[in-house]
Amino acid sequence: CGIVGYIGLPEKSAEHQALDVLLEGLRRLEYRGYDSAGVATVTGGRVEARKKSGKLVNLINEIEESPVAPASLGIGHTRWATHGGPTDQNAHPHLADEAKLAVIHNGIIENFAELKEKLRAEGHTFESQTDTEVAAKLIGRCFTGDAEGDLTEAMRLASNELEGAFTLLAVHADQPDRVVASRRNSPLVIGLGEGENFLGSDVSGFIDFTREAVELEQDQIVTITTGDVTIINFDGSSAEGKRFHIDWDASAAEKGGYDSFMEKEINEQPKAVEETLLGRTDAEGRLALDELRIDPEELKNTSKIIVLACGTAAYAGQVAKYAIEHWTRIPVEVELAHEFRYRDPIIDETTLVVSISQSGETMDTLMAVRYAKEQGARTLAICNTNGSTIPRESDAVLYLHAGPEIAVASTKAFLAMVTASYLLGLYLGQLRGQLFTGQIKDILADLHSIPSKIQSILDNADQIKDLARRMADTPSVLFLGRHVGFPVAMEGALKLKELAYIHAEGFAAGELKHGPIALIEEGQPVFVVVPSPHGRHSLHSKVVSNIQEVRARGAKTITVAEDGDDAVREFSETVFHVPETQPLLMPLLTTVPLQIFACALAAEKGYDVDQPRNLAKSVTVE
Ligand code: G6P
Repeated sequence: CGIVGYIGLPEKSAEHQALDVLLEGLRRLEYRGYDSAGVATVTGGRVEARKKSGKLVNLINEIEESPVAPASLGIGHTRWATHGGPTDQNAHPHLADEAKLAVIHNGIIENFAELKEKLRAEGHTFESQTDTEVAAKLIGRCFTGDAEGDLTEAMRLASNELEGAFTLLAVHADQPDRVVASRRNSPLVIGLGEGENFLGSDVSGFIDFTREAVELEQDQIVTITTGDVTIINFDGSSAEGKRFHIDWDASAAEKGGYDSFMEKEINEQPKAVEETLLGRTDAEGRLALDELRIDPEELKNTSKIIVLACGTAAYAGQVAKYAIEHWTRIPVEVELAHEFRYRDPIIDETTLVVSISQSGETMDTLMAVRYAKEQGARTLAICNTNGSTIPRESDAVLYLHAGPEIAVASTKAFLAMVTASYLLGLYLGQLRGQLFTGQIKDILADLHSIPSKIQSILDNADQIKDLARRMADTPSVLFLGRHVGFPVAMEGALKLKELAYIHAEGFAAGELKHGPIALIEEGQPVFVVVPSPHGRHSLHSKVVSNIQEVRARGAKTITVAEDGDDAVREFSETVFHVPETQPLLMPLLTTVPLQIFACALAAEKGYDVDQPRNLAKSVTVE
């Protein structure tokens, strides 16, 4: 979901109409994924609310048909349905207190059923199935009751009664000098302007208007007026936010000539990897991750690493496992964050929990990290978003510096996550004396040559795009890989599911004969991620055998293989070549053709590759 709030001096309104600021913010936040949108403004002692299911354009059409009066404050929302379907009625804002109060919400209020009963018993009625309407009625009840017409106090009193995760924003027609927000476990940042202030789920909600921002902690209320930002804790005590400057420019969040953000981000991958590597070695060529903030002695004594992540980030974690175990001899477990804390995992203070998250806000990952911390583990976040919740709550952080990723399906963040995991593995190997400086230098040199190799894949993408166009009607695609190629196969399949809505599955090539081979019939397309023929010969020849097995049963085989790998040609209908690198680093190259393939195929089918149906960029509910 996306959330924006705005208040400006009336004289600012020539320049910044609240409605325009809100719609621009929502447009910027569209990438987070949503299925309905709405706004509320306050003018002349009234709240005006408009909301509509579907994309932002539906809301804009609605406003054109039924315009709202000029206003200098308001709130806006894009909703990703949780309680109640994506209908007009369930869209936010929700109104209360005789339609004078408007509330928007991100998150899930866990005790909403109980509160709803209580409010019903007092005579309140409900129009939607949402938990948000319950929060709105509750804030309204506090406003007219104990808070005596003070919206900040009403928000505070109501927040203390709510359980679960939420960001709530409210405006009230009787107090048109403020927008009030509350935050527990859901994202919210404040933007500072002159004679105007902003709220957003993330900084893209106000990046067009200001670069100065303030972070909030958990369980805090913020009140923005035209000239002030006041933060208090849920217990009423006053608090200070942490100011920061947003250093990426707004154009980083524009398409810059590409048809989609996804295409742009695929093409930004050489730079993303370069930025992740930048400044992480000392003058002697040794790894220097001083930013980690953890005592190196503590890291050295790590007995086990558990990697926690969801979606694409979890596949980055699986690649990390092969590299980190090989370089450090520390056992690495990789677990989907939402499964982790329900299986009574074995953790102690020598366990290093590494979370991987582009957004730093994924609720499943955040909750898993919190659980690990409670159990005494050291926590390290690999993350792309500065100042987001997961790195803030972790003992240490390794930022990706890949720049903002807007397309819902992750591409450049994935390669940056894999790169950062390699750096972590090398660093631990160095600390534990498992790797010599010479070895580290060699691997780093290879890593530094990766960006230009990715570029050469991008420069020769036409062959992949042509194939994607020809395959647009395919109902199902399988992906096979071994060793580090296995998570790449799963990521290739995930991209195709997410973007092109095609049934796709990734398998470990060795597992094929234990079941999935039954799926193979005449013409079934099978992508195979082929390991390097150098070094691990046995693995290469085993995968070549797997290719033969599926071909013998009628599969159409498409291979991703190293330059000069002639052995696969004979068994492949199409070969995509990638430049040579050491076997462990291959995912940084072999993933790229699969991303290009999925993106081109989805575009050919006419789908919105940036905002696939039903998906959200940052899933802030569990
Ligand atoms: C959502 C997105 C995925 C992403 C996953 C983890 O499900 O749709 O593309 O991989 O969240 O996101 P994170 O921000 O934690 O990397």
